[in-house]
Amino acid sequence: MIFTVAIDGPAAAGKGTISRAVAGAFGFAHLDTGLIYRATGRRVLGGEDPLAAARDLRAEDLAAEGLRTPEVASAASRVAALPEVRAALVEFQRSFARREGGAVLDGRDIGTVICPAAEVKLFVTASDAVRAHRRFLELTGTGHDVTEAQVLADLRERDARDASRDAAPMLAAADALALDTSEMSIDQAVDAAIRAVKARL
Ligand code: C5P
Repeated sequence: MIFTVAIDGPAAAGKGTISRAVAGAFGFAHLDTGLIYRATGRRVLGGEDPLAAARDLRAEDLAAEGLRTPEVASAASRVAALPEVRAALVEFQRSFARREGGAVLDGRDIGTVICPAAEVKLFVTASDAVRAHRRFLELTGTGHDVTEAQVLADLRERDARDASRDAAPMLAAADALALDTSEMSIDQAVDAAIRAVKARL
């Protein structure tokens, strides 16, 4: 069976949690496409050319430690604005999406550019304050020394860059189901996503 679930939205809205839960519930494969840009951004921080880094990405790069830092997130968002970098990464994402057995991809442009024909599209959001609080807990929980105000400022800067770039800006597809998780528990958000998938299976 070929079945694609596209989950887009801004940073720390709950896409990752929802994607993993949906993939687990239906036995689908999951690709966190942010990791592709983070891995590219990390190599660029190390001095590599962005396009060369994107073309040369390997599975090990996506599993590397140190991709979940604020510095790498910011570098990811800067390389993600380069059209040639995005173009180099399209085919890998599309073939993942059409793999046998179903796939969930989460990112910024999955429902609009990578998989415009996805069977299910969700656009997951939450208020800035809620997202900053969640990311603050995640970062401090993994030993990062950050303030909530700093996290909020970083998220806003990254979202503004992601939403305003010319190449595949972060945008809800016209046919995406909007899910605002600000006031939802994880279980409620996951249930809503699972219902949306069941309705199309
Ligand atoms: O989702 P995550 O925060 O890991 O993504 C890091 C950055 O990668 C985003 O801020 C965005 O600039 C970029 N990205 C993108 N398109 C995607 C996924 C991520 O441009 N599909």
